[in-house]
Amino acid sequence: MKTRNYIALTIAGFISLAIMTSCGGGSKTGTESTEGDQVTEQPAEDAAPSAEQMALGKKIYDEKCFVCHQPNGQGIPNVFPTLVGSDFLLNQKVLAVTQVLNGSLKVAANKTVKYPAPMPPQVATHEEAVAVINYVLNNFGNKGGYVTVDQVKDIVIDPR
Ligand code: HEC
Repeated sequence: MKTRNYIALTIAGFISLAIMTSCGGGSKTGTESTEGDQVTEQPAEDAAPSAEQMALGKKIYDEKCFVCHQPNGQGIPNVFPTLVGSDFLLNQKVLAVTQVLNGSLKVAANKTVKYPAPMPPQVATHEEAVAVINYVLNNFGNKGGYVTVDQVKDIVIDPR
C-alpha cells in the first residue's frame, strides 16, 4: 500500500512538473502533496569529507590536474575549462567524478564550449576521484558542497 502511494505521488509529481513547465507554473494541481518526496532524492552533500580526503584531493590536483586546469583552477580560455564556478562541476558532481575516472569523451556534459582535445582519464579509483572532485568543489573560490563515495559507487571504471 505504501509503495503504491509513493508511486502515485511520484507520477503526480511528474505530471504537475510537466504542467508547470508547459504552462509557466500556472497550475497548482498536486504540487504541495509531492514536495516531501523529493527530500529523499537529494544527495547527502552536507557530510563534509575528512581532512585526509581533502589532503588526498589536493595532492592529486597538484600532481595531475594543475597542468591543464592551472594552479588557480582557472584553466586556459578555449583550451582547458575553468573549474571556478563551473556549472558542470557544481551541479553534476557524479558526472564530474565519472569524467575524472573515464575521461570526457563519453560524458554528456552541457558543453557550451567545444574544447580542442578531450580530457583523458585521470585516476583509477572511486576514492581518488571523489577526493579530487571534493577538493576542486571547495577551492579556488568554489563552495560547491560535496560528493560521497557511496553516491558514485555504481560508476563503472573503463578498462585501461
Ligand atoms: C590533459 C589536460 C587535462 C587534465 C590533466 C585534466 N583535465 Fe579536466 N578537463 C580538460 C578538458 C580539455 C576539459 C573539457 C572537456 C570537454 O568538455 O570535452 C576538462 C574538463 C573538466 C571538468 C568539467 C569542467 C566544465 O565546466 O566543463 C572538470 C570538473 C575537470 N576537468 C576536472 C579535472 C580534474 C579534477 C582533474 C585532475 C584529476 C583534471 N580535470 C585533469 C583537460 C584536463
